[in-house]
Amino acid sequence: MNEEARMAAARKKEHITLARHNKRPESNDFDKVFLVRPALPESEAALSNAECDFFGFRVQAPFFINAMTGGVEEGDRINMDLCRASDKNGIPMAFGSASFVENNPSALKGFEEARNRTRQPVLINVNADTSPQTVKTLIRALDPIALQIHVNAVQELVMPEGSRHWKWKEKIARLRDAAGIPVIVKEVGFGFDVASIKALAEIGIDAVDVSGKGGTNFCTIENCRREKGDFSYLSECGFSTVQSLLNARFAQQLLGLPEEGGGKKMPEVISSGGIRNPLDVLKSLALGARWVGVSGKFLSTLLSGGEKALEEEISEWKEQLSGLIALYGASCPAQCQKIAWICDAELESYAKQMARLVNPGEL
Ligand code: FNR
Repeated sequence: MNEEARMAAARKKEHITLARHNKRPESNDFDKVFLVRPALPESEAALSNAECDFFGFRVQAPFFINAMTGGVEEGDRINMDLCRASDKNGIPMAFGSASFVENNPSALKGFEEARNRTRQPVLINVNADTSPQTVKTLIRALDPIALQIHVNAVQELVMPEGSRHWKWKEKIARLRDAAGIPVIVKEVGFGFDVASIKALAEIGIDAVDVSGKGGTNFCTIENCRREKGDFSYLSECGFSTVQSLLNARFAQQLLGLPEEGGGKKMPEVISSGGIRNPLDVLKSLALGARWVGVSGKFLSTLLSGGEKALEEEISEWKEQLSGLIALYGASCPAQCQKIAWICDAELESYAKQMARLVNPGEL
């Protein structure tokens, strides 16, 4: 293992400990969104309501376990538990970044052992600087349904040993060409702006995981790892998950509809960052997300209550979500995009100001 791989391994262990001990906020922007509930829903609360396709694979719910860890002993153990929970509940599972397999090929084994514990679709995760060769090796070994490429400039800035090179667009396009499977570009908790979503559409990216502010905060986590040069003032940086989902709607407007000759296809939108319960999942769908990723909440259930507690929690979420879908008059996740919603004055002001920026073409 070279020095870079040794640092990455130490960082992965610290991330698990710090994510566990840094509290996620109890309240976030999902509390500013109110769904319009029909008193006559004309629906039935069947468990099958939550079923949907995930990149062409039938799964039991539109939410999945999002990228966290792997490649170090504790991380591999966590991934095995997460994979078993995914298998038991019929939901997809994303591995944490496997980029450091490039400098430490033996780290692949732990990912493979976890992968063997689920029959559900898995996602692999790399940073944009990973070589196409390594991505191909990971795809051969782990048979993922899609590739996540994470973009994390705020985290890198605050990370003591972080990269300062953030010219990613060309590298993302190169990895997309090499992968031969759908590509998701994801943030890690600071959200997505309109122009970046539009830029990813223009290079033909399949999905954007907005992963916004409101849950796990990597500015706080990396700041705890610093010995000097406090960055805590940056912890509110970025867009919340709800704001990012609105940004995706603006990006869609700018792109126009391909069938009207209006340019590029809008990527699928994935909501993640601060998902606390099945209602946040439903609100994400109503705001336009196709799928929803959950990290911190599931990790904390696993670490505090064990594998069984996580399996039960996911099972309860599926059941409750099926009921909520029916409560709001829908019968499947795709129909939830039609649920009407209103928001509080603060979020409305955000949407109005962003509309002003987008419409005169200032973005
Ligand atoms: C993460 N996250 C993450 N994301 C990523 O793309 N690659 C990674 O390797 C990691 N590693 C990681 C470790 C740990 C311990 C946590 C908790 C999270 C970020 C994660 O996928 C997600 O974007 C954020 O955590 C926001 O979602 P939650 O936690 O608020 O649901």
